[in-house]
Amino acid sequence: MTALVIENLNKVYTDAYSGEEVTAIGDVSFTVERGEFVSVLGPSGCGKTTVLNTVAGFVEPTGGVVEVDGSPVSAPGPDRGVVFQSHALFPWKTVLGNAVFGLRMKGVPRAERERRGREYLELVGLGGFERKYPHELSGGMQQRLGVARVLANEPAVMLMDEPFASIDAQTRRRLQEDLTRIFEERRPTVFFVTHDIDEAVFLSDRVVVLSGRPSTVQEIVTVDLPRPRTWREAVDLPEFRDKVARINDLLSGGAGTGGGARVDSDSPVDVV
Ligand SMILES: Nc1ncnc2c1ncn2[C@@H]1O[C@H](COP(=O)(O)OP(=O)(O)OP(=O)(O)O)[C@@H](O)[C@H]1O
Ligand SMILES: [Mg+2]
Repeated sequence: MTALVIENLNKVYTDAYSGEEVTAIGDVSFTVERGEFVSVLGPSGCGKTTVLNTVAGFVEPTGGVVEVDGSPVSAPGPDRGVVFQSHALFPWKTVLGNAVFGLRMKGVPRAERERRGREYLELVGLGGFERKYPHELSGGMQQRLGVARVLANEPAVMLMDEPFASIDAQTRRRLQEDLTRIFEERRPTVFFVTHDIDEAVFLSDRVVVLSGRPSTVQEIVTVDLPRPRTWREAVDLPEFRDKVARINDLLSGGAGTGGGARVDSDSPVDVV
């Protein structure tokens, strides 16, 4: 069953002052199956966030179709949960209060929401922190809480826009492994935006590689790494290295111009 359909998506912004038009998304099509982890990679400014925001219902497309579980997206809704790059937590609510916020909005009874809140906090490694406040958590823990809050809602699609970008490298690796474990246990449907090729390959079932503006899909790379995945094992597998190299090639402009001929160009595309 297909959870997310994006078909011929196009977005043109018009500058409010100059009237100048900016094509944020050229023509983008791909799907995400239920229980699949799909990442989107592409040069800075190619419209990754705009694609995610149209799926979230924050941005109205200029053209094309976005469907979640067979219904067209017209506004934000609880069937799509967003984990933001910065934590977007409520500072006046406890960790548990933050985790169950969406359930409260949906009218889930108190005992049930507490049970689910605790379960998902446990899952992301925040068991025991229920009564703390966000400012008492580290950046990595706040990001875990962002993940728990979305998971607790059990959305049809989980949307993540560079959720680990502002986190130190070591913590980021741990969060990536945690996210993989959670994905393997629960099989949510995930649409993940990143700049980080290794991260995309490590986490994903498929990676959608976008071109620079006006963006189109250059290639959809399937990753057949076995699960469960850990960094220690993944980095040594030829499949991991091959897929990283392939995507690197695509993003460096090597694709279609003689394989990796331009990978070592001295003006690499800004992808990291
Ligand atoms: N609200 C807006 N109004 C006008 N232009 C916008 C708006 N939002 C985005 N853009 C433009 O659309 C293009 C795509 O932006 P977007 O943020 O989607 O790219 P991105 O791929 O997420 O970039 P990054 O990798 O840097 O996060 C950019 O040129 C950006 O300046
Ligand atoms: Mg972005």
